[in-house]
Amino acid sequence: MGPQAASRPMTLSERADELEERMMHELNEKIATKSVLFNLADGKRDMIGGAELMAQNPGKYFLMGDDPRLPKMPAKPTLLDFLKYRFVSGATNHLLQSATLALKSGHDEKVVLACLLHDIGVAGFIRCDHGYWGAQLIEPYVDEEVSWSVRVHQALRFFPDESVGYAYPDMYLKYFGPDYKPEPYIQKEYKRARKHRHYMTARLICVNDIYSFDPNAVVNLDDFVDIIGRHFKQPKEGLGFDNTPSSHMWRTLMWPTRFL
Ligand SMILES: [Fe+2]
Ligand SMILES: [Fe+2]
Repeated sequence: MGPQAASRPMTLSERADELEERMMHELNEKIATKSVLFNLADGKRDMIGGAELMAQNPGKYFLMGDDPRLPKMPAKPTLLDFLKYRFVSGATNHLLQSATLALKSGHDEKVVLACLLHDIGVAGFIRCDHGYWGAQLIEPYVDEEVSWSVRVHQALRFFPDESVGYAYPDMYLKYFGPDYKPEPYIQKEYKRARKHRHYMTARLICVNDIYSFDPNAVVNLDDFVDIIGRHFKQPKEGLGFDNTPSSHMWRTLMWPTRFL
């Protein structure tokens, strides 16, 4: 960096970045860390190593538990706790609107639950391959019909089915352009799904998926507490502490900035 660059006043966004970076690592005398994935999402292939962070924060230990910037989770968290304290409220609202539509349309409770959880990957975790991540997260706790449908709805959304009045979404034309073609793995998933016994459950997720998000829609999580109670096997130890193949995913949602 030349002298000119050094004396250049920081832009607003650089100042905001610096402040964020500083706040990130200075919480309650603990050092929070950002995983590689969080940096990749900012277009940076970067991770500050442990020794460097310790040198920047003398006398402090790394955060190995709750991040004080996030709402505190109960000791034995339930699905509802994650919906309330971790998932993004706009996305949760989308899930509630879709499930409300499915309920009003008279679908059975497994379909309603599949609609309620279909974008749980986006709401709490990640966009890329959200169907697969979401399905993996809930797989140990729901009927295979629900998790399978959540997994493949991601592929089915790109393919019309006139038998249920489902067309290629206008929103996708707007979002991805007229020339977008789903990748081969999505096309293969669609072909496999067509022949699957739970095809229609996954298809009904697409039919009840609300494209136009309505911020004023009246939806209520309480309407689904009974359905969740009947069809989501809440572990007595709490999600994350029950030693299933997805427990670590729930723990990561709970403690996204733990050092290890
Ligand atoms: Fe989705
Ligand atoms: Fe959706």
